[in-house]
Amino acid sequence: MKAVEIKNGIYWVGAIDWDLRNFHGYKTQRGSSYNSYLIIDDKITLIDNVKSHFFKEQLQRISTIVDPAKIDYIIQNHIEMDHSGSLPLILKHCPNAQVFASPKGVEGIPLHYSNNLNLKSVKSGSSLNLGKRTLNFVQTPMVHWPDNMVSYCPEEKILFSNDAFGQHISSSERFDDEYTSSINMYEASKYYANIVLPYGAMVQKALKTVDQLEMEIICPSHGLMWRSHISDILDKYKIWSKNEVVNKALIIYDSMWGSTRKIADTIQDVFEESKFSIRKMNLQHNHISDIMTEVLEAKIICVGSPTLNNNMMPTVSAFLTYFKGLAPKDRIGLAFGSYGWGGQSTAQVEKELKSCGFDLLETIRHQYVPTSSDLVTIKDKVKNQIKEL
Ligand code: FEO
Repeated sequence: MKAVEIKNGIYWVGAIDWDLRNFHGYKTQRGSSYNSYLIIDDKITLIDNVKSHFFKEQLQRISTIVDPAKIDYIIQNHIEMDHSGSLPLILKHCPNAQVFASPKGVEGIPLHYSNNLNLKSVKSGSSLNLGKRTLNFVQTPMVHWPDNMVSYCPEEKILFSNDAFGQHISSSERFDDEYTSSINMYEASKYYANIVLPYGAMVQKALKTVDQLEMEIICPSHGLMWRSHISDILDKYKIWSKNEVVNKALIIYDSMWGSTRKIADTIQDVFEESKFSIRKMNLQHNHISDIMTEVLEAKIICVGSPTLNNNMMPTVSAFLTYFKGLAPKDRIGLAFGSYGWGGQSTAQVEKELKSCGFDLLETIRHQYVPTSSDLVTIKDKVKNQIKEL
């Protein structure tokens, strides 16, 4: 386990979680990393920590550069346990180190760990002198928790951005230009869609500050550091935070005996003849976090469910719960589905899409199995409604 020098005297000393496949419900098919950074200056400074069970790896990497007892300052940009878990453990090695966090961070750390940590709160706009270098703090609340802040080193032009600009990727490569760029950007979009999406207004506010900084490297707390694609990721964050969409239709559904699937296929036919690109995602085969990645830039969200025991199917319900929590805005919705009797599912889907504030197309609802002629009627109905979009 070695440290990776990212600039003279500044090191990555994090941990790589090769096996992570589930991050509170988000399918992390490429694992992740918990990035921690060490600055060797008059004041030896550690920025962010790692999950507690990765502490040995972090400690080993730090120890290749400096005796951990010599750490003077610890900057805790965010208190979620993937970044603060090892804080009490490292402090056993450097008990006199001063820990800096935002005011909300200083409130939250004792609620996770001990009351006896040496904490100091730093406000937005304040600075900390390390010797030859400075760290400037900017609070970025709700990107991703209320306590979040970023730390900027003007002498090195490095932004330590914590969750912002992260990707769940485990790799031996540390920089964006050492890794497949399309995969990196895909994982950054998945990360945004599943973690950051509800907080677009706060992201825009943070971007106004970040845009004024000269940056050679962005060091997030997950995945690869950005040095060759900084403007690309900033541009994407601007688009995503404004809920800007493209002409893409998502058809998300589950089916019991194939009738709702036939309606999904018919909706696909309609969009194939339009300007919209399509993603058809059966909830039996697609993880909800992968569907959210597609939601990120999709203008039309079609959700289909048959009625099962007076309700939509549990897969659809679970998806809509997750979807609503991530609060996508300014989309167009379409509810569809089949039923035998009762037929409550489509109204339930419709209600959920409406609660997101979407404009809705007319719901498609069919009893039992649609014939070829029924499907033509459904096709015409959808076609007429999307003409003007
Ligand atoms: Fe990666 Fe909000 O923690």
